[in-house]
Parts: sequence; C-alpha cells; structure tokens
Amino acid sequence: MPDSTSGISRRQFVRRCAGFGAAMAVSSALSACSIGFSYKPTTEPDNADLGLKEVAGQKSVLFGAATMQATLLADPSFAAAFANHVGLLAPENDLKWETVEPQPGIFNFAPGDWLADFAAQHDMLFRGHCLVWHQQIPSWAGANVSAAAAAAQLTSHITETASHFAGRMHSWDVVNEAINPEDGRSDGLRKTRWLQTIGPSYIELAFRTAAEADPHALLTYNDYGLELDSSDGDRRRAGTLKLLSGLLAAGVPVHALGIQAHLRADVRFNATKLTDFIQHVADLGLQIFITELDVADRALPADIQTRDSVVANVYQDFLQTVLAQPAVKAIITWGLSDRYTWLSQYAPRFDGQPVRPLPLDASMKAKPALWAVMDALNATEARASRRI
Ligand code: XIL
Repeated sequence: MPDSTSGISRRQFVRRCAGFGAAMAVSSALSACSIGFSYKPTTEPDNADLGLKEVAGQKSVLFGAATMQATLLADPSFAAAFANHVGLLAPENDLKWETVEPQPGIFNFAPGDWLADFAAQHDMLFRGHCLVWHQQIPSWAGANVSAAAAAAQLTSHITETASHFAGRMHSWDVVNEAINPEDGRSDGLRKTRWLQTIGPSYIELAFRTAAEADPHALLTYNDYGLELDSSDGDRRRAGTLKLLSGLLAAGVPVHALGIQAHLRADVRFNATKLTDFIQHVADLGLQIFITELDVADRALPADIQTRDSVVANVYQDFLQTVLAQPAVKAIITWGLSDRYTWLSQYAPRFDGQPVRPLPLDASMKAKPALWAVMDALNATEARASRRI
C-alpha cells in the first residue's frame, strides 16, 4: 500500500524497479529503486488475505517451501505462516541420508513421517529431498567398498526410503547435484564417491530403483548454478541437458528437473540463456520445478528498505523469466521466513546484520519479496492441469 508521501503503489513500485535488481550494477539499481520507495516493513500487502499457495493455485502452479520438523514444532507463529502460504512442503534436512539411515540398515523415518502428517493435515503436498547426494551422507555409505557393495547400499537406501513414503510423495529429488564441470570430466559429472565406486551408471540405478519403490512420485533430477551468466553456467546447463537427454534416451524414468535457484542479489542471472535452457528441458517432455529459491543479500547495503527492494526485484525478474515457460509447475523457496534460513550460516552478511533472503521477515510479516512472488504468479498464464 502507498504511504502518503510518494503515493506509489506496491504494483507500481515493483514495475518501476523491474529492470533493475540483479540485472544491473547494484549501486545504480539501489539509487534508482530507492527513489519513491514507500513500503513500510509492517504494511500489509493488498491481498494479505491470500496465501501464496492460493495465488499460485489460481494458475495451477504449486507454491512450496522447505522447513524442518524441529522448526515447525518449536515455533507456532512460523508454523501458522507456513500453513497459510505453503502448498508443498519440502524437508530441508529431515530426509537426507545421514538422518534417514545413519547406520547401515537402521532407518529413522520419524522426522519425515511427522512432516508428511503435518503436510497432510494442512492440505499440502509433500516432497522428498533427497535420495542420492554427495553431502550429508554417513561416512560408511559408498566409501571404501566395491562397486557391487556400493550399488547394494544405494539400492537398499532408495528402496527402503522411497517405499516407506510411497503414496505420500508428490515428487522425489532422486539425484542431487551430480554435475560439476570443474571436476574436469568430459561428461561434466561430479566426482562423487558414488561415481568413483559405481561409475556414471549410479544415476540410472537410482532413478530405476526409485521408480520401482514409488511408481507415483515425480522423479526429479535437482541441481544448482543453472541460471548463471558465466562459462561455468554454460557448462552446467550443457552437462545437465546431456545427462537428462541421455537418461531419457535409455528409457530411465526421469520426470522433472529441479532448478535450485539459490540466487545472489549481486550476481546477475542470464535470462536469455535460462529461457533457452528451460525450453530445451521442456522439449524433452520434462516438468520443471524451481526447488530452492532464495536471494542472498550479503553484498547489499545495510538499509533494510533498499535491501528488500533489490531482493524483491531479483525475485520478480527471475520468476517472470521462468514462469513464462508453462512447463514450470512449482516454485519452492528454501525456507519461508528470514527467521530460519540456511544463509544465516552459509552466506552471512559482512556487517553482521541478519540476512533477509525470503518472502517473510523474521516476524512473519510479508516483505516486498512476497509481493514480487505474488505479482509474478498473477502475471503468469494458468497451467492446463497438474498431476496429483
Ligand atoms: C542445506 C540446508 O538448508 C542446511 O540446513 C544444511 O546445513 C546444508 O544443506 N542445496 C541443497 C540443499 O540441495 O539440500 C542444501 O540444504 C542447500 C544447497
């Protein structure tokens, strides 16, 4: 809502700043966007009654967010905001290998079951993250064993986990972050312990095993850096396309690509290359989910209004770009409120101020980033339908 000084509305503000944000030098974007900026941090957005899931649902797009059992249990105000806005719950850590199978064959599904129940009680879909990754795995998994033993561990972990949640999962990130061109392989694959013990076929094995264990979940390949405007970004996009088309040509059950989208307010993404890339992915017949969206503000000035406006512009620019492609069916943020974000630890501000990368502030108030998400959703075409 406008204040009495400048009379600019939220929508006008977002439009005025649409070309800025990450798309130009941060300093000039800041001075341009702060002129006429009129949002008070506590001002409710126009459509405050609507949660993001409803706004997204009007277009048959899913809005989701990641969180943890411990956070929902500890913080009722966060849990209420989460229930209001989120239509798809992604477990931030509770389904990772180190939690689910800390010892060989000893499974702990309690946090995941709790989250699945919370999702069901609040009319949310539930998502699995992640079956195979090179991080947050126990030291025994896939290391110092033969190829056959590593494959047996991988198969057992996927079979037990995916069958336990079968029927309750919208989608599973089956393989996470398998591309890393820096590792120097011609296929762009990351030299994980799975690759080094089993070979590149570990990816196919993972998807085939997951499909058997849960024939209904959408099976997703998930990775980061796919929007980058750099030669690394080019190689990541090329490696991902090669991986996905190879898997599909071999009849491997892959249904979706997850684009993590951990964005930085000070690093521009390449909209043209991203648009081209997601068109190629859509042409392969895959759905596309934005799976871990947030906007790191560590390099922005401390002033909160300025910071929030730049972060909102990045949300707006990015979502406008990706939602133009109808194959993009879900927008999932990595956290919902600035009170709980991995960036507090992984990308803290240099000045020690709390980071503000998410749609809600630390007291569960909507920020310009939330209005930008709503605007991008309102502006997109309705999807024909969605599965599940
Ligand atoms: C992060 C969590 O948010 C942190 O709490 C944890 O300490 C490390 O992992 N890509 C992914 C996610 O696929 O699983 C990561 O989540 C963030 C980067």
